[in-house]
Amino acid sequence: MSTPTNPQLEPVLPTRRNTEPATKTTPATGPKRILVLGATSGIAEACIRLWAERGDSLYLVARNADKLAAVAADARTRGAGYVNFVVADLDKTATHPELLAHAINSLAGLDVAYLALGVLGEQPKAERNFDEAASILHTNFVAPVSLLTWLANYCAQRHAGTLAVLSSVAGDRGRKSNYVYGSSKAGLSAFLAGLRNRVDREGVTVITIKPGPVKTAMTQSMKGSEKFANVDKVAATIVKAIDKGQDELYVPGIWRIIMGVIRAIPERIFKKLNL
Ligand SMILES: NC(=O)c1ccc[n+]([C@@H]2O[C@H](COP(=O)([O-])OP(=O)(O)OC[C@H]3O[C@@H](n4cnc5c(N)ncnc54)[C@H](OP(=O)(O)O)[C@@H]3O)[C@@H](O)[C@H]2O)c1
Repeated sequence: MSTPTNPQLEPVLPTRRNTEPATKTTPATGPKRILVLGATSGIAEACIRLWAERGDSLYLVARNADKLAAVAADARTRGAGYVNFVVADLDKTATHPELLAHAINSLAGLDVAYLALGVLGEQPKAERNFDEAASILHTNFVAPVSLLTWLANYCAQRHAGTLAVLSSVAGDRGRKSNYVYGSSKAGLSAFLAGLRNRVDREGVTVITIKPGPVKTAMTQSMKGSEKFANVDKVAATIVKAIDKGQDELYVPGIWRIIMGVIRAIPERIFKKLNL
């Protein structure tokens, strides 16, 4: 392991809780050390179940203490090799360097960082109130950029690691019903494309995950949500894509075609549509 030159990257002593320490080394094909940011997300929880069942080591971060404790307990029951967690509001970007260093010390390294935090926000409110728009942009774009900047530098120094991030098909084209959320994800997808272009040559994998509508807490109040994709199927596809080191994933896969069509609609027609 190379020595960090940026003082922000210096690991700090971990606060161990709940379990025995993680093993110090992880073979390339063996259990992975996975950091989950936004671990109480419906999509993240379903991935955590799969990672736990195959014995991976997990460090979970979320802001709801009760939900997070339940996710961690479930992961232990399912057979995770190691589980630790911390309650944190990831909007607080100043806390990120210390939080990430703690997490990586606790896992004794890092194979995968999985970013699942996100808010849908209220589009009608965001049209009238800049604070609502700024809050959506902060959680979905600014906070992930802060986390990814630290994590990418950590991984690039070690020439290893995967950064897997939940963006959205909504970022592929802005539309009137959710363009504030959509623009936060568009910014995130563009950031990830540029980051991949920078760190791929350093041996770091960046995966942009673009789900279509999935049945989770985020979408439960939406019209037609009973027809949205099943979260366990979506999670299985995501876990496989992370294992393969894919660059970009549309999930379910049909959304690659749907968004190709939507992107191809000329603006003079698109602006008249009710989407
Ligand atoms: N469901 C979909 O249809 C869909 C489609 C495309 C993309 N996505 C993206 O996939 C990701 C996961 O979404 P989901 O469907 O699983 O929704 P979800 O169940 O609502 O999960 C979102 C998670 O983000 C967490 N979060 C929000 N702000 C946070 C903060 N400041 N600090 C820490 N955690 C924070 C929430 O924590 P709390 O429980 O504390 O609020 C929640 O656990 C999101 O980025 C979302 O934009 C979802």
